[in-house]
Amino acid sequence: MLPKLLSLENTFKPSLLVQINDVRFNQHQVELWIKRDDLLHPIISGNKWRKLKYSLDHALSLGTDTVISMGGMYSNHLHALAYIGKILGLKTIGLVRGEQPLILTPTLRDVQDWGMTLKFVSRTDYRALRQYQDFDSFPDLKPAQYWLPEGGAQVFALKGVAELVHEINIAYDTLCVPCGTGATLAGMAAAVPDNVSVIGFAALKNAEFLRTDVAALLAQPLNNWHINLAYHFGGFAQKDASLTAFIEDFKLQHKISLEPVYTGKMMYALYDLLQKGYFKPGHRIIAVHTGGLQGNRK
Ligand SMILES: Cc1ncc(COP(=O)(O)O)c(C=O)c1O
Repeated sequence: MLPKLLSLENTFKPSLLVQINDVRFNQHQVELWIKRDDLLHPIISGNKWRKLKYSLDHALSLGTDTVISMGGMYSNHLHALAYIGKILGLKTIGLVRGEQPLILTPTLRDVQDWGMTLKFVSRTDYRALRQYQDFDSFPDLKPAQYWLPEGGAQVFALKGVAELVHEINIAYDTLCVPCGTGATLAGMAAAVPDNVSVIGFAALKNAEFLRTDVAALLAQPLNNWHINLAYHFGGFAQKDASLTAFIEDFKLQHKISLEPVYTGKMMYALYDLLQKGYFKPGHRIIAVHTGGLQGNRK
């Protein structure tokens, strides 16, 4: 990796692996651990650095001076990208889903302050942008511009996510992660030991397409992963009172903040599946805290 990126990474804190001591898990003799990627960095938290580092290494090695990407108004991906751009001296352009709001969200205010140029695109045009999946596939790219697909979901992301997996130094049965584009899940499936299965929890409704997207990111077919589509709570960024109460309760009991878009849904799902007898006694689960707390600001 290029020295610029290494020196940024040297400012990161370790992602701790902590056991959740909870009577419900103890009763079922199931262990729940959390890999605290949310602790990695105050801004580039969670799976963002994992997914971005090798894409940016690739971009810089090509002589890129501008990275263009896409995301919603609360996008953790754009947030991390804009900040990294500022640190590395890279220009960034964010194509943002929907009409420009009268008042920018805290996420968009941050990214603008960090120098990202924002372009608002209609929902239809935004959907169409998803067809550009390779770094050079975006139409009318100028020299030294680099296209990063939604969520940074391209093959380079898998290599960074594999590092998360290789940091885990205990034996375990199941690795869990929330899914937006499925790139983090793909990186995990490609890197876990043979006897481990990976479960992704879809943050959006009607997310069957994720299965194809994840398979497309994998260099070879793997059958050690699946995506649970049942805990979307009505759709992307939707929540109900039970999810909100769960997140509050979890914070009170375990002093760990979750947010309702990704990590809250995954953790809720794990508790629910536990109650339903999904995990056998002796099972050890590791859930990845993928960060995203900045997106929770109003
Ligand atoms: C906090 C958080 N968790 C999980 C995900 C899902 O990651 P992926 O898009 O790789 O499925 C995202 C989106 O990138 C995210 O921001």
